[in-house]
Amino acid sequence: MQLTVSAVRPDTLAQAKYQAILVAVHGKRLSTAAASIDAASAGALTQAINQADFDGKAGQTLSLYGLQGVHAGLVLVVGAGSDETLAEQAWHNVVNAATKALPKGITSALSTLSDVVVANRDELERISDHARYALEASYRFDQHKSKKTESKPLKLTLAVSSANKAAKDAVVWGQCIGTGQNFARDLGNQPGNVAYPGYLAEMARALGDDGSVDVEVLGETEMLKLGMNALLSVSAGSVNEAQLAVMTYKGGKAKDAPVVLVGKGITFDTGGISLKPGAGMDEMKFDMCGAASVLGVMAAVKLAKLKLNVIGVIACAENMPSGTATRPGDIVKTMSGQTVEILNTDAEGRLVLCDALTYVERFKPAAVIDVATLTGACVVALGKVATGLFSTNDALAEEIAAAGQRVDDRAWRMPVWDDYQELLDSPFADMANIGGPTAGSITAACYLQRFTKAYPWAHLDIAGTAWLSGAKKGATGRPVPLLLEFLRARAAG
Ligand code: BES
Ligand code: MN
Ligand code: ZN
Repeated sequence: MQLTVSAVRPDTLAQAKYQAILVAVHGKRLSTAAASIDAASAGALTQAINQADFDGKAGQTLSLYGLQGVHAGLVLVVGAGSDETLAEQAWHNVVNAATKALPKGITSALSTLSDVVVANRDELERISDHARYALEASYRFDQHKSKKTESKPLKLTLAVSSANKAAKDAVVWGQCIGTGQNFARDLGNQPGNVAYPGYLAEMARALGDDGSVDVEVLGETEMLKLGMNALLSVSAGSVNEAQLAVMTYKGGKAKDAPVVLVGKGITFDTGGISLKPGAGMDEMKFDMCGAASVLGVMAAVKLAKLKLNVIGVIACAENMPSGTATRPGDIVKTMSGQTVEILNTDAEGRLVLCDALTYVERFKPAAVIDVATLTGACVVALGKVATGLFSTNDALAEEIAAAGQRVDDRAWRMPVWDDYQELLDSPFADMANIGGPTAGSITAACYLQRFTKAYPWAHLDIAGTAWLSGAKKGATGRPVPLLLEFLRARAAG
């Protein structure tokens, strides 16, 4: 999809040379754009919405073909709710639904939807949102299908009040988010036999091909030298070598401390010797979605030439049972020097992350955010709506939550109180890698906290939000938008 902006006066809409025009209707109240189409077509738009039981609720669409007096063959009427102001989530649904309602054969469309009033979003922000949501809604993953879905490339023009540099930058930023998010989805959707640790490391390396990102990849030999025995214990049962890729992007001042993102990259999680039940196990190919989101963010950051220092780290391994796999009860010494009794080999995410979190101390980070499909308990607590947000740093937690709220990629804070720490006690080592049946996502965060004392840290548990199951099965690309909005706000100072 090609995205551009254009300043179009509402009274010229009927003559505009596009195959399709998108206009909003608020309940039964026409937007300025819809009213102008209605006037040019002698009231045909009003007549159609009255006849079609169209009540203008957010996300409802009505396709009107061949309106008299209108150049565009298709006028797509899009419901934007009857309230004066649309909530961020409803706005997201409106643009997604509108994009999906465009027929595949359309190659040029003009959208006036950025004129909808949205809570906490000014016009420039709505332009970014629109670009991003359109890309998100047009995503398809049919790489492994013999028959691909036919669709012609769409040129989507967003009508704006003034097509100045700010508006152009806004559409480009939205495009960067959408591209990063869809890249993360592509990686997430790949099966485990394609996306093994070496594949993700290759993806990281590819981001460095144009010289805009420095990439370093550590294999098992290097990790062993560093004492990353927790990470290595996870890949011990796999024929695929674990990989730790470090991507350094320097968009800020040389002396500025970087924001470091650390992604869990378990390319397939069988549970190891603590084997998972069979039903739905295919979805454990998504257990690298944290790493995929870090790759997606790095791709977008370089596209956008963000003025900030950002380091992306992905800790990649495959968790398999075999004769060389880690046993329940095994004790390993982490890179930090702390020892861990691995009571359950299925609690492997925290094992790869703890060594990666120790490794990143060397960057003297301004903040570290880890992103992980860490616990089933987080899905129980928050479902597929909110990402779990854990931090002992109130300012950082609030900054992340606010960023997610702005771009409808929400995270909800959970406690990391010391009261929970004793659940990790082990009779044989400094700690166990599981905390028992209660508060599973919190004890996982408490475990990680023990390795993050050197910098401001937050943990995002995306077990519920990284992918959808059922008929819509597939990676969502979350929390790429949240992270990019967080970084954008930091870059803006
Ligand atoms: N990758 C899983 C977490 C997960 C499970 C994400 C289901 C999404 C859906 C993680 O490695 C895991 O297996 N966690 C265990 C931890 C437990 C053994 C303490 C879990 O959540 O059951
Ligand atoms: Mn697991
Ligand atoms: Zn896992």
